[in-house]
Amino acid sequence: MAENTLDNKLDANTSENPLSIEHGRYYWNPSGTEYGRVKKDFNGHLPKITNGLFLDIGCSFGLTTLEIADIYSASRVIGIDRFYNRIKIARSNAQNNEQCKFLTVDANFACFEDISFDGVFCMNNFWYLISKKRSRIQKGTIERIYSFIKRGGYLFFSGSNNGIIFRKDTALNLWGTTLSEDQLQNHQVYKFLTETLGKQQYS
Ligand SMILES: C[S@@+](CC[C@H](N)C(=O)[O-])C[C@H]1O[C@@H](n2cnc3c(N)ncnc32)[C@H](O)[C@@H]1O
Repeated sequence: MAENTLDNKLDANTSENPLSIEHGRYYWNPSGTEYGRVKKDFNGHLPKITNGLFLDIGCSFGLTTLEIADIYSASRVIGIDRFYNRIKIARSNAQNNEQCKFLTVDANFACFEDISFDGVFCMNNFWYLISKKRSRIQKGTIERIYSFIKRGGYLFFSGSNNGIIFRKDTALNLWGTTLSEDQLQNHQVYKFLTETLGKQQYS
């Protein structure tokens, strides 16, 4: 029987799917991927976590994943993307970085049985779907993503050089943001996330 390691659990939960190439043109923005953006988008609000496990959803070529691994240097980071070709490039970019692992997974259908994360990053993808009110973003997808986070863990959501971080505790708590108080209250993304996730309570 296979050992109960994180890698074995991930392998049991996910599969490589080279046919998973749908919808990508809507998300790709080459100018948005420069190194340093994880820190910049969350502007000093990143919580301290050691020996954590992070998920970078929609990681594309793995640049954000590698930066997260650099920031949280004692942690593991799993990068997922629905595009197999991007995952192949991410693996090659990561070379032998043992902190990172890349998997072809569509967040709409992802499930991580037996694994929960200290932090889940969604950078430069769902933000745009929400703020442009594109119909493809489903509340169920956001609820699913949120369910991957352990209690006390964080949801990192960013786009357009701005970020919002929530802490998942007994309820949804705003941890930090680059938006001003006024911008925040009227922001599509903030409203969508609080309406979708705010009703959930954890005892
Ligand atoms: C603009 S790129 C952002 C890459 C990286 N997060 C960054 O900020 O540099 C958006 C990525 O999200 C991925 N993506 C969008 N929807 C996804 C989904 N449902 N599941 C997995 N990946 C998704 C796309 O394939 C694309 O590679």
